[in-house]
Amino acid sequence: MCGIIGYTGKKKVKDILLNGLELLEYRGYDSAGVAVVDEKTKETSVYKCAGRVADLRAVCKKQEIEATCGIGHTRWATHGGVNDDNAHPHCFGKVTLVHNGIIENYRELAVEYALEGKLHSDTDTEIAAAVFDHFYEGDPIAGIKNAVDKLKGTFAFVIMFADRPETIYSVRNVSPIVAAKTPEGTMLASDVTAIGGYTKQYFAVPEYHILEMTKEELHLFDFDGKEVKPSYVEIDFALNVSEKEGFPFYMEKEIAEQPGVIADLIAGKTKEDLPDFTEEGVADQLLYECENVTIVACGSAMHAGLLGQSLMKSLAKVPVTVELASEFMYSDPVITNQTLVIAVSQSGETIDTLEALKYAKAQGAKALSIINVRGSSIARESEAVIYTNAGPEIAVASTKAYTSQLAVFCLLALRMAYVRGKLSLDETKNYVRELKKVPDAMKEILGEKEKIHHIADGILEAKDIFMIGRGLDYAIMMEGSLKLKEVSYIHSEAYASGELKHGPLALITSHTPVIAVATQEKLLSKEVSNIREVKSRGADVVLFAKERILKEAGREYMSFALPDVKDEFMCLVAAVALQLLAYYVSSDKGFDVDKPRNLAKVVTVE
Ligand code: F6R
Repeated sequence: MCGIIGYTGKKKVKDILLNGLELLEYRGYDSAGVAVVDEKTKETSVYKCAGRVADLRAVCKKQEIEATCGIGHTRWATHGGVNDDNAHPHCFGKVTLVHNGIIENYRELAVEYALEGKLHSDTDTEIAAAVFDHFYEGDPIAGIKNAVDKLKGTFAFVIMFADRPETIYSVRNVSPIVAAKTPEGTMLASDVTAIGGYTKQYFAVPEYHILEMTKEELHLFDFDGKEVKPSYVEIDFALNVSEKEGFPFYMEKEIAEQPGVIADLIAGKTKEDLPDFTEEGVADQLLYECENVTIVACGSAMHAGLLGQSLMKSLAKVPVTVELASEFMYSDPVITNQTLVIAVSQSGETIDTLEALKYAKAQGAKALSIINVRGSSIARESEAVIYTNAGPEIAVASTKAYTSQLAVFCLLALRMAYVRGKLSLDETKNYVRELKKVPDAMKEILGEKEKIHHIADGILEAKDIFMIGRGLDYAIMMEGSLKLKEVSYIHSEAYASGELKHGPLALITSHTPVIAVATQEKLLSKEVSNIREVKSRGADVVLFAKERILKEAGREYMSFALPDVKDEFMCLVAAVALQLLAYYVSSDKGFDVDKPRNLAKVVTVE
């Protein structure tokens, strides 16, 4: 993760760096820092601190900074705790640098270059700075290449050398860096968000190439020292910075946006009630020629994949596996040229998902991705991309991006079923008409959010919570449980209801909160029995179910009636209720809902 920005040009750099870091803060927010080159003395000064970019702003306010060249960093700690010393930039000898990634062989390097006693931090990054310094003999291109040859791991480095003032260098492996020439200087950043306000054209720095940025020009070199022409692309999408619009937190705002996002998504991806991905260039061939599908994703996106799996299996009758992207490569996956691999990612930058996709492609699979952020690394790596168009998601906990992934999977499963002859034209259209009822059902839940707030109050003090469901409801609960734990810090676990008696029931004691979702008619009687099992062991059950199911289950539970849509699409509706539950628990506990501890919005380390 970590956000990186760099600028050299005619403009004052302080605000460019601080504003850019604020835009990149979703990548990590435990420390922040800048290094700036004084216009007159050409000396480099570093200002950094543990805390948010706002804290760094306060540090910089006290300084007289007259500089037009500098680099900045917002950190998500990997090596070394969160403190001022471990914040970037790091300096060693003539080198000042910032880093995103992990240097795996940092211990060996520290020994090889006799760094004991010479370091000021506990980071792998400072060791890398020492290695760059060791190999720097006045030729930055040769020095960087020789140093990189020694490093193992993933990295995006942005480097300044003391005797090359106002020139910035960068090199990367896996972790992204984009760069651009603007009318008044040159810039780079971890992603386009931070440079979109200055230019409409940018390029992704290729892996194992060296970028050199002066105030007027930028040059790209391969590792043989040969100059390479950058491949510029247009930013053809809006980089709107979202406002809270009166909501106390982005998470609540983003939950509330879902009816509109899902309605627009369905409208944009259907023609005359038939799912249609032609505008995005997804050929039907991709959907009917594959023999099997493998979905790779992490976290909430993986949970969306689980629902996609159920729908594709039941509607299109295609064998589908869902793999945690972080485990994928190491699990000897069976991938052939008949496999369609679907990568799901809000950010489009998650390294595990990107690497899994690359691996599957190398085995011959066709690659389709479901992405929210346009122009992101995974989108660039895919043969076809379906954009979820959910708009910027600022809160770390995914809400509208997750439900928009679900909606894409609903339409994709239907299109697949249709082109593979498993659903007739009429059947497919009927499904789509039913799917169109989802936004109104979501609105209904939002209209009753105070009831969910009341339920949240009832579980505020819980230490452990169990979330149970069967079939699609189990997949929904995996997401509900993740949402709750990440923003409320309450330990919660999702279990397939039928599995309780195989172990976890031992943990159910008097007043353990158990949250159950029951939306699937065909599983109703079994689900109700499982709910009674926990109830009879003293659990406090909260039941989210359709009105009819609530009647069947009996009224003795704390409950919330979910509006009725077709069973296959109830996941979209239930998700909103569970998101609100997590949100209220977190906000009522007084937490920073949008920036949960230890997390970041974009996960670019393996
Ligand atoms: C949880 C959450 C994460 C992400 C995961 C993948 O609320 O947001 O679990 O879903 O880190 O991120 P993307 O979708 O950007 O690949």
